Amino acid sequence: MITPPPKLGAGRAAPTPAPAPAAADRLQPKREFQFTQADFERVRQLIYKHAGISLAPIKQDMVYSRLARRLRALNMSTFDQYLAHLEKGDAAEWETFVNSLTTNLTSFFRESHHFDLLQKQLIGLAHRPIKIWCSAASTGEEPYSLAIAACEAFGSLTPPVQIHASDIDTNVLKTAERGVYPAERVERLSPERLHKFFLRGTGAQAGQVRVRPELQKLITYSRVNLLDAAWPTVKGPIDALFCRNVMIYFDKPTQYQILEKFVPLLHRDGLLYAGHSESFLHAADLFRSLGRTVYERADRRAAPPGAPA
Ligand SMILES: C[S@@+](CC[C@H](N)C(=O)[O-])C[C@H]1O[C@@H](n2cnc3c(N)ncnc32)[C@H](O)[C@@H]1O
Repeated sequence: MITPPPKLGAGRAAPTPAPAPAAADRLQPKREFQFTQADFERVRQLIYKHAGISLAPIKQDMVYSRLARRLRALNMSTFDQYLAHLEKGDAAEWETFVNSLTTNLTSFFRESHHFDLLQKQLIGLAHRPIKIWCSAASTGEEPYSLAIAACEAFGSLTPPVQIHASDIDTNVLKTAERGVYPAERVERLSPERLHKFFLRGTGAQAGQVRVRPELQKLITYSRVNLLDAAWPTVKGPIDALFCRNVMIYFDKPTQYQILEKFVPLLHRDGLLYAGHSESFLHAADLFRSLGRTVYERADRRAAPPGAPA
């Protein structure tokens, strides 16, 4: 499913402009396609409006090399031609454009203290079905880590947990759904986890691992752009909302708008897990920090003295 090109921008400032075109263009390396400062600025505006991503000026080479592939694939000779084509609203190219410019770095049990806390949270909720949303799931290592943590917390491969994994990038979602990884991606996991939750490839699949189908059954996928006005595939109330290492790409007003939409989706006692370098102190009216980049709703009432935990 592809969302139409942006109607965004209302209430959000444009990204800070990169250095003045003339000076920067003089420093251009020799390239197959001319890529001016003005072209880069146009790309920055488009990805900012559509995905919220603020591309730093130092990303110019990265942007060139990723989009030059699109020019070749479409047999185009200038960035102007490519960007004009995009601006006309070709939905398939929008998807490829966004997929080309996302950064998908992730790993199994990244920031592992969050999974320890999640297990404690899950055990406290054991009397009812539990919902987790992994809102920037990338290639799947994070939602599978959530599924493993849930299985361990309940001592079962069928815990009462539903995980919804989403991302803006449709390529990474395909990788996630497939659940096949190079063996190096799991080499830092304990032998017990490896044995319980992964199948080793043999023959043509040697050097690869596949997550167990029981983990896959716990996860559903959809494409969600966190910037979109509505997220129809996301159903609350969510007990644990993982939004890690994606807000870092958004400016504070954009972060605030997303956090505002998280509040009604999150169970009043739910937890929001953020990335190690992300802070939502600027949204203290919405979320209260519990330390170590975990947040609760600011309107969560403290339990009365003597109430069960
Ligand atoms: C650096 S990865 C983080 C992955 C994972 N959450 C982690 O912490 O390991 C950032 C992910 O955010 C996704 N992303 C970027 N902009 C997004 C948006 N507007 N809506 C949803 N996902 C977005 C990217 O496609 C990418 O997969």
